[in-house]
Amino acid sequence: MSSTSPVPAVVLAAGHGTRMKSRLAKVLHPVCGRPMVARAALALLRAGCAPVVVVVGHQADAVAAAVRALGDPRIQVAVQAEQRGTGDAVAAAEGDWAAGEGPFVVVPGDVALLVPETVTRLLAAHAAAAGPVTFLTSRPADPAGYGRVVRDGAGSVERIVEAKDATPEERRIGEVNAGVYAFERSFVFGAGGALAALRPDNAQGELYLTDVVAEARRRGLRVAALEHGDARELAGVNDRAELAAAEAALYARTADRWMREGVTVRVPSLAWVEPEVELSPDVVVEPGAAIRGNTTVGTGAWIGPGALLADCAIGEGASIGPGCVLTRVTVEEGATLLPYTVAHGVHEKDPAATTEGDRVVVGPGARIGPLAHLRPASRLGAGVHVGNFVEVKNVVIGRGSKANHLAYLGDGSIGEECNVGAGVIFCNYDGFQKQRTVIEDGAFVGSDSQLVAPVVVGRGAYVGSGSTITRNVPPGSLSIARARQVDLQGRADQMRSRRLARQAAADRAAEEAAARGEGRKG
Ligand code: UD1
Ligand code: CA
Repeated sequence: MSSTSPVPAVVLAAGHGTRMKSRLAKVLHPVCGRPMVARAALALLRAGCAPVVVVVGHQADAVAAAVRALGDPRIQVAVQAEQRGTGDAVAAAEGDWAAGEGPFVVVPGDVALLVPETVTRLLAAHAAAAGPVTFLTSRPADPAGYGRVVRDGAGSVERIVEAKDATPEERRIGEVNAGVYAFERSFVFGAGGALAALRPDNAQGELYLTDVVAEARRRGLRVAALEHGDARELAGVNDRAELAAAEAALYARTADRWMREGVTVRVPSLAWVEPEVELSPDVVVEPGAAIRGNTTVGTGAWIGPGALLADCAIGEGASIGPGCVLTRVTVEEGATLLPYTVAHGVHEKDPAATTEGDRVVVGPGARIGPLAHLRPASRLGAGVHVGNFVEVKNVVIGRGSKANHLAYLGDGSIGEECNVGAGVIFCNYDGFQKQRTVIEDGAFVGSDSQLVAPVVVGRGAYVGSGSTITRNVPPGSLSIARARQVDLQGRADQMRSRRLARQAAADRAAEEAAARGEGRKG
């Protein structure tokens, strides 16, 4: 690629993608977590292309949003109002950039597996060939719907014929057009350019970009075709089967890369690690784990079977148990999340309202679950224990504190070295407003207590089991707020015989009634 000015690129993404049989535009279907058009555009950006012009048409706004979401200023969007074919789509991309000298690249919006190195190789071959057109070819196992590369007796490329226009003999050609091209701008654009010469005289009545090849020959210019060994990488995704194949290939490629970097992927065909995830040496990924989005995993961490992680930061040596589901969670080093813990730093009702402060943080060496539920803005300090059926929302828990069983802790803070008993509830909502509960350092809250917020349990205080605390508990106080126990000596047996006698009388009455009913019938 020229060191002075970057090479522009065009992504064709205006089509419907009818073979997908979907309400969603084909190029918006995700491949390993990202719309395929975004993956194609990303490969061009990574190859250094600029601008990267994405041609949109069908579901234009959504496709434009998908590529703008990459957040790269080199992305531009052009509109092809009517989808009249791939040649017309390139014409729609024409902008100021097209007036310059030198080459530009065209890729279809459905080559989700394209890598930047391939774009770089194409441009190098194009520079070497010194012709107006260079394109990539491949030999897929099944050339089915691809355009076939027709060569003359001398082996030079003559034209590309679409499958729908091909003779049975042409259809037997194994070398296909990958749809990835480098063109000289001056050859393609302008009144005398090759695009202006295209005619829709073909089976689909479209303006085929592929006909530019024959046009070059007509003008006596040489066309270069570079055969690419990895047909899988250049496969277009046109239907659901090809979508599944593309995803499987990209997951396999990603797992392969990490295994070479010292990650143990127990069963590579059952590990779904998205390409943007960052793993580290000695990470272990068990079968069925899915690691998505902007996630990083530190050295030696264990990701258990069936765990689902999205946008998480997992510290060194942390352990994520089987079936855990984590979104926007930071797990510090050495923390353990036991099976089926759910933690999400995203507002369930309004994900758009989520801020960075909503992230869930699990401190170093903490031990969470099994079956714990951590919700937005929960921050758990070092060595904290949160056990089964404990729900934590918007609570900061200090170092070494424990809430081991069956609790709801919502809106507040718990100091260091506190003990929160089984079944404790923070009554944070009075039907109108959320209020805060504060438990200060070293306090003990007995099992089955309710803390009616706003309320403070002072430093070192002790709340008796079953208390309903509605006023602040002073520091150091032993506070009990429950009905006093009454013991009526010997009354248990009396109560039992009274109940038995009552039951016997009721049974007798029922029998007599049944007997009268029988008599009438006979
Ligand atoms: C195209 C090529 C074929 C090649 C194959 C490689 C043509 C005529 N054929 O066929 O030779 O083997 O790709 O994968 O180019 N698009 C637009 N506007 C349009 C039509 C299409 O933007 O008017 C976009 C589509 O959204 C898609 C891309 O162009 O992303 C390619 O279109 P598609 O219908 O998939 O072309 P193929 O039939 O696969
Ligand atoms: Ca295609």
